[in-house]
Amino acid sequence: MNRNLKKYGETYCFSLRYSKVNIITIDPDVIQHFLRKNEDNYKKPVADNEVLGHFVGKGLLLATGERHDAHRKLMSPGFRPKSIGRLIGLMDEQIDRYFSEMDQRLEKNPTVIIDQEFSDLTFRVMTRAIYGDDMNQEEILDFSDRFQNLQKMMIKLVRIPRLLKFYQMTGQTKFYEQVAKDNNAYLNQLIAARRKQQPKEDLLGMLLSCRYEDSDEGMSDDQLREETLTLFVAGHETAANCLSWIVYILAQHPEVIKKILAEYAEVIGDKVPEFTQLLQMDYLNRVFDECLRIYPPSWITNRIAVEDDHVNGFDIPKGARVIPFIYGLHHSERLWPDAETFNPDRFTKEERKGRHNFAHMPFGAGPRMCIGRHFATLEMKMIILKMLKRYRFSLVENHKVELLPSVTLKPANGIKLRFES
Ligand code: HEM
Repeated sequence: MNRNLKKYGETYCFSLRYSKVNIITIDPDVIQHFLRKNEDNYKKPVADNEVLGHFVGKGLLLATGERHDAHRKLMSPGFRPKSIGRLIGLMDEQIDRYFSEMDQRLEKNPTVIIDQEFSDLTFRVMTRAIYGDDMNQEEILDFSDRFQNLQKMMIKLVRIPRLLKFYQMTGQTKFYEQVAKDNNAYLNQLIAARRKQQPKEDLLGMLLSCRYEDSDEGMSDDQLREETLTLFVAGHETAANCLSWIVYILAQHPEVIKKILAEYAEVIGDKVPEFTQLLQMDYLNRVFDECLRIYPPSWITNRIAVEDDHVNGFDIPKGARVIPFIYGLHHSERLWPDAETFNPDRFTKEERKGRHNFAHMPFGAGPRMCIGRHFATLEMKMIILKMLKRYRFSLVENHKVELLPSVTLKPANGIKLRFES
């Protein structure tokens, strides 16, 4: 793609056997047109949705049209910074517990592929933040096993959606369909039991209190199950991969770690951070923004044109697939001089001024922008800060790290770290 962008410019068209007109772009004006200015004309493709919908149901990520708008409106209050800030205690407890377990493993072997650790850790943190203390530790681990099993199948199918029919015909999905069924039964029970309890300050509690504007009714048990499961689909892999890339960068920049810890001592001291204090950690925010620029976990997205359209000299025919290439946008030399160099100062107030609003969009943009961005940022900040305070680590030499652009942007062979005792 990068070669073609150099050859044909920031927006170009190509054909594939199954979709004739595909328009890929790293031009922030064109992306803004697709995702914001003429958003009604560009819809999420349905093919990917069928696969995910089959296993987890149609939550926000997969909903389209009026259903999407109504659900987004309904759920938004639960995802505002003030609501998310209340989850800090639940996250804190799970992270401490996880690192204590990891300490025991490190005693035996100080070298780890950190990706798998982050995958398990973020799953547990999400589970605790969403379902609170309704699941005990054993149940969290069972739920994690079931979900990660499903996730493996879903990732395969999202990459090649037409395999779903084939797998169904040959009986290969049977096992996973049973896992999904068991999972649904378990969650339905949990949600039904929650309705009888006093309101709780976890994400399920917040979603239970949300009401549709027109009817003043809340979500049904099935909807709550689908929406909470969808959060894992959208937010688990993305956050886990993002953390791997962040530590990959930090391990190469000990001076940045020092500055983050100094800022921590100054703003927070020795207590559990409060959400508003984390927002005040300006240097940490800049480091995160820059890591998300260099390694955006959601590296690409796409929409289908509903009607003919025209933007910046390009005719977009009805049915065309438009593809904002977020990784390419974040590495554009026009927008980001010396783009491959890590430099958090790109995100000082002064540097931000005059930059295109759509030059940096790790969480997407427009009406389908990531609803979980405050959740993700809080979770990742808590994990990174605790990790930096607790451990010293370095990259294992001769372990080659390469990009693997899968459903999310992953490190191909993982990030291998050596922890000092
Ligand atoms: C670093 C972590 C994350 C990144 C980089 C990320 C990125 C994104 C992006 C780019 C989109 C928009 C996709 C598109 O326009 O096609 C999106 C949507 C979404 N994200 Fe995230 N996300 C992250 C974490 C999370 C978390 C933790 C959650 C849940 C707690 C979450 C929930 C969602 C949902 C539900 C949507 C669909 C929103 C809608 O269609 O209205 N994400 N995310």
